[in-house]
Amino acid sequence: MPADHPPYVIDQMISAKSIAARIESLAREIGTEFAGTDKLVVVGLLRGSFVFIADLVRELDLPVEVDFLEASSYGDGMDSSREVRILKDLRGQIEGRDVLVVEDIVDTGHTLAHVTKFLVSRNPARLRTIALLDKPARREVDFKADWIGFEIPDEFVVGYGIDYGQRNRNLPYIGKVRFTQ
Ligand code: PRP
Repeated sequence: MPADHPPYVIDQMISAKSIAARIESLAREIGTEFAGTDKLVVVGLLRGSFVFIADLVRELDLPVEVDFLEASSYGDGMDSSREVRILKDLRGQIEGRDVLVVEDIVDTGHTLAHVTKFLVSRNPARLRTIALLDKPARREVDFKADWIGFEIPDEFVVGYGIDYGQRNRNLPYIGKVRFTQ
């Protein structure tokens, strides 16, 4: 554990098995929504979504293209005018395409609200959003993803792509950070 972090333990909150079962069910719903598409562009938001998108696309019975976008936000989290900037744009075109944006967690909502607006300006045929986790208690802007894996309370979570100080992204489950001092 890095010295700049107070000591903590991680309590499991959502098991790998529960996540897998939920993804199977979400993939069926997405398959119904996009049935007949010639190509679904699945866009992962770096970095937190990398595990979720990998598992989700393998459950999708649709022709998919995978692309990535990286956004970063500035502000202290108390400021509802937080600025979100695009650090890495898509490689491919989305005009006239069906697009699914994949996010690990919706917290204040600034990231997905901004990214959605940014991508809609490119005139996709349809754009939908999915987030594995939703923390509605933290919302600062009015944003609701089209699909949510799990709604969670305002806890400090890690794992399954989500980090604390760039660690713990590789945990196969979602855990809750509990400081021991
Ligand atoms: C986290 C998370 C979401 C975003 C959600 O990303 O992965 O992208 O914050 O927060 P919001 O709803 O308050 O905007 P982070 O900036 O930590 O980057 P990462 O994905 O690289 O971990």
